[in-house]
Amino acid sequence: MSYRILTPQEAACYINNGDGVGISGFTLSGTPKAVLPEVAKRAEEAHEAGKPFKINLYSGASTGDTIDGVLARAKALNFRAPFISNPTVRQAINDKELIYTDLHLSLMAQDLRYGYLGKVDVAILEAIDITPDGKVYLTTAGGIGQTVANLADRIIIERNIYHHTMGLHDVYEPLDPPYRREIPIYNAADRIGKPYVQVDPKKVVGIVEVCTPNEQVVFKELDPVTRKIGENVVDFILNDIKRGIIPATGLPIQSGIGNVGNAVLKALENCNELPSLDLYSEVLQDSVIELMEAGRVKVGSTCSLSLSQECLLHVYDNIDFFRDKLILRPSEISNHPEVIRRLGVIAMNTAIAVDLYGCVNSSHICGTRLMNGIGGSGDFARNAYISIFTCPSIQKGGAISSIVPMVTHADHTEHDVRVVVTEWGVADLRGKGPDERARLLVENCAHPEYRNFLWDYLKISKKGHVSHNIEAAHAMHAAYERVGDMRKVDWSKFV
Ligand code: COA
Repeated sequence: MSYRILTPQEAACYINNGDGVGISGFTLSGTPKAVLPEVAKRAEEAHEAGKPFKINLYSGASTGDTIDGVLARAKALNFRAPFISNPTVRQAINDKELIYTDLHLSLMAQDLRYGYLGKVDVAILEAIDITPDGKVYLTTAGGIGQTVANLADRIIIERNIYHHTMGLHDVYEPLDPPYRREIPIYNAADRIGKPYVQVDPKKVVGIVEVCTPNEQVVFKELDPVTRKIGENVVDFILNDIKRGIIPATGLPIQSGIGNVGNAVLKALENCNELPSLDLYSEVLQDSVIELMEAGRVKVGSTCSLSLSQECLLHVYDNIDFFRDKLILRPSEISNHPEVIRRLGVIAMNTAIAVDLYGCVNSSHICGTRLMNGIGGSGDFARNAYISIFTCPSIQKGGAISSIVPMVTHADHTEHDVRVVVTEWGVADLRGKGPDERARLLVENCAHPEYRNFLWDYLKISKKGHVSHNIEAAHAMHAAYERVGDMRKVDWSKFV
């Protein structure tokens, strides 16, 4: 079978108002680059002519400005799932211009197959190449490529010649109930699928040629706070190894996204006492490549190579070294609860806020404004060997405490949060009752300026198995919304 070569504009004409569009990629990595900006232009032209034009967009995780940003500015999105990080689409979601469903990333492909979300009319896959019999070799991320290709009526391939190294992917799609079997991954290094996505060549409407690198993630420089959080995490892990709780051989690790997650990885990088580790995670950043070359990470199983351009080209140039160490999996597998629980992954994710009993808000500022979403944090936290949440103890110069009486939005309940780490220390909540959990969080994790303040809340709380003052539980958030500072609460009003 030979395929038509299309311009991005021609390819965009296969996408119509109301269509469901599923794309390859995960974060800024492996997503299509050329066609969706043209879809945004079609939407703008339609809107100028007084006609409707919006699509439903399904991806593995967040995307960058060339997808979420461009489409949100063109008001071309009707529905979005499962995760975002682009500021423009964040604003549009908070302004209720589109519907956003915040999903555990492991569920995205499955929810599409089960029919919980809308139809997938078109799949756009970024590929190194496609063979005449429909073997699609993806670029730098797994995501939901196989699933959307199976479900779509029309498939567009973006052949991105910036990428040239095949064979890192391990594409495996589980059967749906009642035919589902175990996912046979017993080590982070196990390969269980095919190095390509198989598509029906008859559905491929054409190939768009591009040569464009992935958009780049820019992290903030480490500062004393994030550096200390990283060091506290490493000390905690080393201590658990010494106590025999974590096996001396180590366990696979997962590290979440963002500035704090990056700082934790850097701290692992700087600690020579840790055994060499496997990574079973959803994103793999530059620091892990450095750890691999230093012999400190043996295997990197991930959904996405979220690398700088320089680091990615370094991997391509040294592929003989990396080929048996890097495995790119679909998000349904990289984040699968069964595998995470079996492998005993040590999960490290970042919280926006943690309450006095360990419930975590990862996604909504003051309970209303979406930040990014739950991402893969819930997939890992619920099923990890140890689930660690990290965050700076304060935000916005101290006007916000990350340790609060009660979270205003609950992503992870106290049952899934085993350890909390801030720059001040560690609250090891394993096996503790509510009073001890609250004490550890206040004394070890809260900022000193907030400690007495939080004790004062507990003093006015009604004692039960869990102590709370229901009227005062969100008073700190209310004060922040009212006067921009959580400390402006007079607890005596609630006595
Ligand atoms: N109230 C108000 N703002 C807060 C806040 C709070 N309690 N906690 C964090 N923020 C703001 C910060 O001030 C910062 O704002 P800025 O960009 O204006 O400076 C922003 O959130 C990011 O915080 P930062 O401390 O730099 O941390 P980060 O980059 O590590 O991101 C999360 C933290 C929680 C937003 C991010 O990790 C996330 O989205 N997590 C959820 C998904 C997830 O865990 N995925 C992991 C697997 S995919």
